[in-house]
Parts: sequence; C-alpha cells; structure tokens
Amino acid sequence: MDSPTTPLISRRDALIAGAATAAAVSSSSSAPAAAAPAAPAAAAVPRVKLSLNVNGQVRSLELDTRTTLLDALREHLNLTGTKKGCDHGQCGACTVILDGRRINSCLTLAVMHEGAQVTTIEGLGTPQNMHALQAAFVKHDGYQCGYCTPGQICSAVAVIDEVKRGVPSHVSADLMARPILSAEELRERMSGNICRCGAYSNIVDAITEVAGSST
Ligand code: FES
Ligand code: FES
Repeated sequence: MDSPTTPLISRRDALIAGAATAAAVSSSSSAPAAAAPAAPAAAAVPRVKLSLNVNGQVRSLELDTRTTLLDALREHLNLTGTKKGCDHGQCGACTVILDGRRINSCLTLAVMHEGAQVTTIEGLGTPQNMHALQAAFVKHDGYQCGYCTPGQICSAVAVIDEVKRGVPSHVSADLMARPILSAEELRERMSGNICRCGAYSNIVDAITEVAGSST
C-alpha cells in the first residue's frame, strides 16, 4: 500500500499528460467550426388585396393581413390626420367613421372591411371649407396641442348622428325615449376620447353648439 506521501504518478508523467491535454485542446479549437444549421426559411407574409372607399374615393390596397385599419390609412394611404396615440383602444385618437359608425381604427384589421366606407378627418372638411364641428372647435378653442382633435371631431360627428337615431347611452334614463344631448350624455358618449391637454370643457361647448343646431 502506498504511503500518504508517496505520489501516485511521477512529476514526469504529470508533465507529459498536461502537455498532451493542451495539444488536444489547441487542435480542437483550431479546427474549422462546424457549419451552423441553416435557419428555417421565413414564412411568406400573407398578403391580400382589398379596396376601401375612403372619403368618397375607392382606394385599392395590397396588405399584410395583420395591418390595422389605422396603419392602412396612415402608412399606406398617407392619411395622417388620423392619429396613433396608444394603439391599444384606450385613447380614441384613431377614431374614424366606418359605415356610419365610429370605430377605433387601431383595434380592427383593414382586411375585415372590404368595400367599407371610411371617413377620416380629411374627408370631413378642409381648412378652406371646414365641417361645422371643425369650425366650432376653432371658435371654442377645443384643442391645445391638437393631437386628439381629429379623433374628437370624428367621434363628435358620430355622436350627433347617434342621438338623432335615438341610440341610448349608458347614462340614458329612458332607453326608449329619444336621448337629449345633455352635458352628462355628451361626456359619457365622448368618454372614449381622451384629451391629455384637458380641453374638455371647450370641446363640450363646441359639440353642444353644433348639436343644438342640428338635433
Ligand atoms: S390609438 Fe387607437 S385608441 Fe388610442
Ligand atoms: S388638444 Fe392636446 S391632447 Fe387634446
């Protein structure tokens, strides 16, 4: 039996073993790297042709099927009046009128609306020939930075139409009676349109003026 002080291998054997290990490591690291496995081919992005009637004009598009209506308007038709605020259905900046009803265009895919009629802020009026609500927003200072304003105005146009059609809201006391556009009704119906500048009281004044003359 070896004593605790007797080395199991000689110093010479240890040096030879160490040198052999170093040579093996060196030769394996200098070997050409094995070719990386080929990346799987990217799946083709599905695209579809569709047409929309935007502000009275038929517009033909070919889109990635995942394109929102908001991106179709802004990025493909260059109608940048419609704004992207949250892109999550929470601010109303992207509101447009789709087949007569307001919609958050960031929450719907363009391909779902083949042949639909879309009205954006550009289709309501021009600086030279403003829609009554656009003129009222100017008159009543219904904006500061203006970022929410296209959505506010599109929403307000649809709100006035909803009231004319007798569509009740969450605060309507009588669901069968024709709603009256009180300040409470107006605030409820416009509650999906956020104004970070806090121009709310002036927005209410602008819409009330136009609604009063048209409902
Ligand atoms: S951008 Fe659509 S709701 Fe905010
Ligand atoms: S005017 Fe600035 S967010 Fe409404």
